[in-house]
Amino acid sequence: PTDALVDRFGRRATDLRVSLTDRCNLRCTYCMPAEGLPTQPADALMTVSEIRRLVGLGVSRLGVRQVRFTGGEPLLRADLVDIVAACADLPDRPEISLTTNAIGLASRAEALAVAGLDRLNISLDSIRHDSFARLTRRPFLDRVLQGIDAARHAGLGPIKINAVLLRGVNDDQAVELVDWALEHGHQLRFIEQMPLDADHSWSRDSFVTAEETRRRLAEVYELTPDRAPRDGAPAELWRLRRRGTGVGPAFSGTVGIIASVTESFCGDCRRTRLTAEGGVRNCLFTHEETDLLGPLRAGADDETIARLWQAEMWRKAAGHGVNRPDFVQPTRSMSAIGG
Ligand code: GTP
Ligand code: 5AD
Ligand code: SF4
Repeated sequence: PTDALVDRFGRRATDLRVSLTDRCNLRCTYCMPAEGLPTQPADALMTVSEIRRLVGLGVSRLGVRQVRFTGGEPLLRADLVDIVAACADLPDRPEISLTTNAIGLASRAEALAVAGLDRLNISLDSIRHDSFARLTRRPFLDRVLQGIDAARHAGLGPIKINAVLLRGVNDDQAVELVDWALEHGHQLRFIEQMPLDADHSWSRDSFVTAEETRRRLAEVYELTPDRAPRDGAPAELWRLRRRGTGVGPAFSGTVGIIASVTESFCGDCRRTRLTAEGGVRNCLFTHEETDLLGPLRAGADDETIARLWQAEMWRKAAGHGVNRPDFVQPTRSMSAIGG
């Protein structure tokens, strides 16, 4: 690349997250309000060729090495397979991954794998029908489980499962989620809830911390820190061994814990984001965006777009500031920003 996406603190963004839509078919309480949010009109969203142009520019000129498609829910894009194929066909092809709730994945896992998808992270917070429905406000657990099975059969494993624990809803389910993940060969990660919900109801006093999650797991498992270097990954890995006499895959493995709030990994952040409408965000928590799609549609050349992208990354703050007294939550929710 002629230049990189660097910021004032010397961090280099090599990991691009592209939101493909702000729509979703779930209504997770930590993300969207029950009634949903106003959504962008279809013509405001980046098309397949616009996504390919921006991702290609990120890869060829700005040092991007990995691309992750997120949402809203990326499977709601009818052209998702084409988007993956278009990016897989780029010179110097980046690693391509997807973060999804897996609803509708059953019918498309195979096509996504063929198109070039390398990896898959699936959001699943409970394997109990009642808790799943309470948390997502939709009764779709079985569809998610079918999607996960299909992904594994399509060779998209090992799959990472993201779980957010919420007080009074599923905070008592850490161990059963681990047991389920170990049994199925998935890599489970627990994620601290962040203040990115549309209802602004996140509370410092009630979110389930990484520390609390470890404590709950330690009642059943022996936990030892995994020594492999973390290398910019948000998840801290722990080796697990079930206390007592059990042996075999159902009794040992690893679990990840993403302590976004209490042990922030901002200092080693390698991320840059594009919203579904083609705006650069330098952080989940920024209050500003730089539009790239407008200039692109107006005929801007690669050089101009690259400069705009770099300028936005240069403004990136040192950290998310969630723990500071003057923290102000971004107005857009996780579904609109891209997870
Ligand atoms: P891999 O480790 O490469 O698989 O990706 P990942 O863990 O970054 O991807 P995933 O989309 O599964 O994100 C996991 C969780 O990290 C999300 O659910 C978010 O809660 C959190 N997360 C994602 N992006 C950011 C970010 O920019 N900052 C912070 N603090 N948390 C993030
Ligand atoms: N805090 C933490 N994680 C969140 N996600 C969505 N909203 C939040 C939040 N407020 C997660 C989803 C999914 C990923 C895209 O982001 O569970 O795994
Ligand atoms: Fe949809 Fe993901 Fe938000 Fe849940 S967290 S409502 S699955 S965008």
